Amino acid sequence: MPEPILSLADVHAGYDGVPVVFGITLEVMPGELVAVVGANGAGKSTTMRSIAGLNNPLTGVIRFEGRDISRLRAHQTLALGISYVPEGRRVFTKLSVEQNLLLGAYTEKSKSEIKRRLEEMLELFPVLKERSSQTAETLSGGEQQMLAIARGLMSRPKLLLLDEMSLGLMPALVEKMMETIVAINKRGVTVLLVEQMVQEALEIAHRGYVLQSGRVVHTGSAQELLDSEEIRRAYMGM
Ligand SMILES: Nc1ncnc2c1ncn2[C@@H]1O[C@H](COP(=O)(O)OP(=O)(O)O)[C@@H](O)[C@H]1O
Ligand SMILES: [Mg+2]
Repeated sequence: MPEPILSLADVHAGYDGVPVVFGITLEVMPGELVAVVGANGAGKSTTMRSIAGLNNPLTGVIRFEGRDISRLRAHQTLALGISYVPEGRRVFTKLSVEQNLLLGAYTEKSKSEIKRRLEEMLELFPVLKERSSQTAETLSGGEQQMLAIARGLMSRPKLLLLDEMSLGLMPALVEKMMETIVAINKRGVTVLLVEQMVQEALEIAHRGYVLQSGRVVHTGSAQELLDSEEIRRAYMGM
């Protein structure tokens, strides 16, 4: 059996010592695309932030490639190969697309390696290539979201954490976003994504976890979750 690249064991996390997630246990295997879905306030971002080292768990253990990362800070998880793209399209609006991308590679010293990554990102995201010298504020919402993901990939992560990439996008763009995430995963990047758009996320994921009020209430293959009457009724409005 291959070892998980990421595992959470009974993780409690929250704010000012007060937990809002209560014993999350989950695993991601190398190469997988795993979705954590649930309603607003379920604890999805808190869970992601605890993995990324932005909000260490109160109790429980998080392992990455077998190593306990529960107490690491964000720059340390980044150095190990975890890249977190937070909610809300955080790009530097006054900087150019290219400058934003270069910031994502700030830990890399080799100029030729940085150039190689930049070219790879502009090829993966053609809309960014056309706009590489424009400031990020001139991009549409969907393009800014693509830029945020591309910047997250500039560190060459082994594990990409994507928090609500579809939020605020028009349906056609949500579909495009999901296709892009699949393309990234097919390039060999393990992806853990968090979504309120339950159906859209499960349609591209291999496996999923359903979070409700800070707890995992369902888990299974994406297809099993999509087929579940209970989940369809609760999250897909049918
Ligand atoms: N910075 C914070 N301080 C205090 N409570 C927070 C903070 N961020 C989120 N919460 C609370 O934690 C719970 C889970 O939030 P969150 O993890 O953001 O959920 P989701 O990402 O699933 O919408 C919510 O009740 C939310 O109000
Ligand atoms: Mg959230």
